[in-house]
Amino acid sequence: MLIKQAPDIPSSEITSESVYRRRRQILKAMLAGGAMMAAHPAMALDRYALESDDKRYPGPDWLQTKLRAAKAGDPVTGESLTPYTDVTGHNNFYEFGLGKEDPKAKAQNFNTDPWKVEISGEVGKPGTYTLEDLLKPHALEERIYRLRCVEAWSMVIPWVGFPLGDLIKRFEPTGNAKYVEFTTLQDPAQMPGQRSFFSTLDWPYVEGLRMDEAMHPLAILAVGVYGDALPPQNGAPLRLVVPWKYGFKSIKSIVRIRLTEEMPKVTWNQTAPSEYGFYANVNPKVDHPRWSQATERRLPSSLFSPHIIDTRMFNGYADQVAHLYSGMDLRKWF
Ligand code: MTE
Repeated sequence: MLIKQAPDIPSSEITSESVYRRRRQILKAMLAGGAMMAAHPAMALDRYALESDDKRYPGPDWLQTKLRAAKAGDPVTGESLTPYTDVTGHNNFYEFGLGKEDPKAKAQNFNTDPWKVEISGEVGKPGTYTLEDLLKPHALEERIYRLRCVEAWSMVIPWVGFPLGDLIKRFEPTGNAKYVEFTTLQDPAQMPGQRSFFSTLDWPYVEGLRMDEAMHPLAILAVGVYGDALPPQNGAPLRLVVPWKYGFKSIKSIVRIRLTEEMPKVTWNQTAPSEYGFYANVNPKVDHPRWSQATERRLPSSLFSPHIIDTRMFNGYADQVAHLYSGMDLRKWF
C-alpha cells in the first residue's frame, strides 16, 4: 500500500486459548439444551465478555436479533483471537484517513442505518434493497478467520456473516456473469478521506472477485464481529471477507454488488498495478516490490514482543482454495 508508517500497536491482553475454549465448552453445553437457548437467546453473544471497556456496536434491533441467533464458529487451532481492542482500533479504511487509528477516531458518526444495496449487472433479478430485506433469507454464522494485510500484519477475527455465494445465487446470475464487482459508499460529506487533498485513491473504492472465488464457501459477507454489529471502522454495515486473499480485497461498507462479464477495474490494482494484482492471493513466495511477504506481524505486537510468524500459502487455506488456481502462474497473476 502507499503506506504511512503506523505507530506501534500497544501490546494488550490477549484472550488466552484456554479461556476461549472454556467459553466455547460452556456455549456448546448451552446449545445442547436447545430449549434453554430459546429461553435465553442472548447467550450466543455473551461468550465474548470483553475484558476492556471497549465500545460495543449493537446495530439496529432486527440485526441484533439475527446476530443473537448466529451459530458459533470453530476456533483457529493453535491461534488466539486478536483482542477486540486491536480488531476495532487498528484499521485500514482510507475513506476515513491514512493512519491506522484514523478510522476509529473519524468514523464514529458514520450513518449506516438505513442502508441500501444495489444488485445489478448480469443477474436475472436486479434491484435495490434495504439491508434488512437483503439479509432476510440468510441465517448468520460466526466464522473465525485469519486476516493478512498486504502490509505484512495480521489478525485472527471472529466475524459474523453468511456465504456470499448464497446471496449471489438468489439473484440468478446469467450465463455471462464471470466476475463480481463490489463498490463502497461514496459520500465525501461523511468520509473525510474522500475529500482530502492528500487522497491517493480514486473514489469510490472498488474490489472484485472471479465468479468461482465469489461462490467459494469461505467467502462471506460480514455484518458483525465479536458477536455484535460491525463497528463503522470495520466496514459497517456490510463488508466482504475473503480470508485467503490480502486484506484489501475485503472491501468495506458495500453499496453495490454488480455481476460482470469483464474483469472489474479494482482500486489498488488501478492505483499501482505493479504492486497490487487483481487476485491478491496471500503468497509468501511472491514479495511485494518494496517488502517481503514471507513473514507477518501478528497483532497484538510491540517493539519488545513483535510476534513475527511465517506467512502461509493462501493464508493457511490452501487445502480449500488452491484448486481454484491450478495451472495459473501465481507470479504473473499475483
Ligand atoms: N475497504 C474500503 N472501502 N476502504 C479501505 O481503505 N482497506 C482494506 C480493506 N477494505 C479498505 C477496505 C485493507 S487494506 C484492509 S487490510 C482491510 O480492509 C482491513 O480491515 P480491518 O480494518 O477491518 O482490519
